[in-house]
Amino acid sequence: MKKVVVIGGGTMGLDIAQVFARNGFDVVVRDIKDEIIQASEARLNKGLDKMVAKGKMDEAKKADILAHMSFTTDLGQAADADLVVEAAIENLDIKKSIFAELDKICKPETILATNTSSISITAIASATKREDKFIGMHFFNPATVMKLVEVIRGAKTSDETYKAIADLSVTIGKEPVEVNEAPGFVVNKILIPMINEACDLLYTGVATAEGIDTAMKLGANHPMGPLALGDLVGLDVCLAIMDTLYNETHDPKYRASLLMRKMVRAGLLGRKTGKGFFDYTKK
Ligand code: NAI
Repeated sequence: MKKVVVIGGGTMGLDIAQVFARNGFDVVVRDIKDEIIQASEARLNKGLDKMVAKGKMDEAKKADILAHMSFTTDLGQAADADLVVEAAIENLDIKKSIFAELDKICKPETILATNTSSISITAIASATKREDKFIGMHFFNPATVMKLVEVIRGAKTSDETYKAIADLSVTIGKEPVEVNEAPGFVVNKILIPMINEACDLLYTGVATAEGIDTAMKLGANHPMGPLALGDLVGLDVCLAIMDTLYNETHDPKYRASLLMRKMVRAGLLGRKTGKGFFDYTKK
């Protein structure tokens, strides 16, 4: 594999693209509007400059990463990709329409992967005629740092495709874990309901946001409190995952917190909008 196309230049897409570029792959990031592409490129430069300033990267490595990355709004650039990793918004219809188009554009051997946090791999794959070459490649936030990739098999994913993506994950410095399709896969089935519980504790006035996070850091030895983690993941993403868990199982324990839904409606999504449970505008 040489050329990777990443669909979506948001929180996850940009970092996933960077991981591939750092490991010598040619990466094209595709998003829907020029402004979004420009903002994404500016975020990349800012992030790399920060690494250089902190002495974590030299100018040569920065230049090398930039030389391996390009940005576009043209989906046609996926035609000769060896792998496409989709990291657009967490919505089944949008993901299906992206992959239906990619299926027509890409060469027959291209593997199509989705970074979905919770949506059925089989359901997304059904939009294509290459369900054997379709797979979940689930990175964690921030993808440049977190070691895990959940490699998720859809109903028709071939062993060959699974092996190619598990091996590729190792090549880019990650640790793959094989997962069979299930709502929320492994990590989010456990983690997002915990964030949801923290949200309910806040809503019902059991403790303050700072108190809840301190309690979990000191009492459960978590490196980050659940509300700060919700802000990092994005509350829209958390809500989409809770709704998927609930809709797939109809188990009331997965009902999204009313506060989480209210905050998403208000655009208080966490770090990416500057405010969530905590305020990031002054940092
Ligand atoms: P985000 O909202 O930061 O970025 C999504 C990007 O996709 C936006 O830039 C948007 O313009 C773009 N987009 C929308 N429709 C598109 C299309 N048709 N073609 C190309 N780009 C399109 O979202 P985020 O957080 O990066 O999430 C992306 C995916 O990754 C979601 O499926 C999410 O569930 C998953 N994910 C998110 C994690 C997180 O911690 N935020 C962790 C792991 C997976």
